[in-house]
Amino acid sequence: MSDNRTLLFLPGDGIGPEIMTEVRRVIDWMDKRRSVSFEITEGLIGGAAIDETGVPLPDETLEAAHAADAILMGAVGGPKWEVLPFEIQPERGLLGIRKELGLFANLRPAIVFDALAEASTLKTDVVKGLDIMIIRELTGGIYFGEPRGIEKIDGGERRGYNTLTYTSPEIRRIGQVAMDLAKKRSNRVCSIDKANVLETTVMWREEMVKVGEEYPEVELSHMYVDNAAMQLVRNPKQFDVIVTTNMFGDILSDCAAMLTGSLGMLPSASLGAPNKSGQQAALYEPVHGSAPDIAGQGIANPLAQILSFSMLLRYSFDMFEDADFVDQAVQNVLDQGLRTIDIMGDGMTHVSTSEIGDAIIGELEKLSS
Ligand code: IPM
Ligand code: MG
Repeated sequence: MSDNRTLLFLPGDGIGPEIMTEVRRVIDWMDKRRSVSFEITEGLIGGAAIDETGVPLPDETLEAAHAADAILMGAVGGPKWEVLPFEIQPERGLLGIRKELGLFANLRPAIVFDALAEASTLKTDVVKGLDIMIIRELTGGIYFGEPRGIEKIDGGERRGYNTLTYTSPEIRRIGQVAMDLAKKRSNRVCSIDKANVLETTVMWREEMVKVGEEYPEVELSHMYVDNAAMQLVRNPKQFDVIVTTNMFGDILSDCAAMLTGSLGMLPSASLGAPNKSGQQAALYEPVHGSAPDIAGQGIANPLAQILSFSMLLRYSFDMFEDADFVDQAVQNVLDQGLRTIDIMGDGMTHVSTSEIGDAIIGELEKLSS
């Protein structure tokens, strides 16, 4: 990779632009103080792209995405665009970029910061110290399966259908990602399926078992998704790495997010296979959505976006020290008792989006002095 690291910023809709502003401040600071230099370009996606160009994923954005070393995205969607035909709604932009770049591995870590253990709606001892990694398959399954659609049937009624489909190589490659990550953690993977009902996931389980045989040091277990949802709220610390399908991963990751106190805390990385030059396509985004109800008020929590940037440093550039640095600043800000509304608790100080940004910069200064 060249020394010139290129980033594509896709702020998107709702709170996307405001939380991206805070990340840019972090990058500017790092540029000045740690000689971490990035060349940043900005692109359009989602509703913002629809307003400018009529489509949620313009060709220029896709070209810039292919050219960039890594992509940092805010969020897409909002009520303004819900009236549009399904094919050109903002979400198509996000699903399109995932598919076009082949970002099949979605890493969603759910970590409970000590300072936030009490912000969870669950009992503190259930979540304190939680550190799990959900690996969601991102370019297959029912999200993309064909045939799909809504058709007319007799009597003026309609039939809607989607297809849950996976090929065995698609399953094995996400399984391998899970196993490789487990080796860097505690050598445990739980694969989640619905093998008691859905054939595709019977095969999912069989293929996972095959992958597991290549990794004898990793303990592989299996769980049905309904049980997994229950276990996640009953005793989440039993899990370490979870690997699952696109749809189940979507649902379970929101569930896991709430264990951490707020959806506003969860970052994510979406990674593709390395290309010929060894560079891996990668997009980083917070798990939360565009939160149109609070957009533009300066009250959104920018921490998931900042933590997504730290994942970017780690996974796209092997900049572990810088990533630790950012993570530590986040932790210190929480330890100071500063809270946006979504994680507000008794005795804490309520602050705005930019005040969190100020505090992060302050902590970075302190950590580097
Ligand atoms: C997510 C989101 C997206 C998804 C939507 C916005 C298309 O919920 O990243 O979890 O369903 O994948
Ligand atoms: Mg989701």
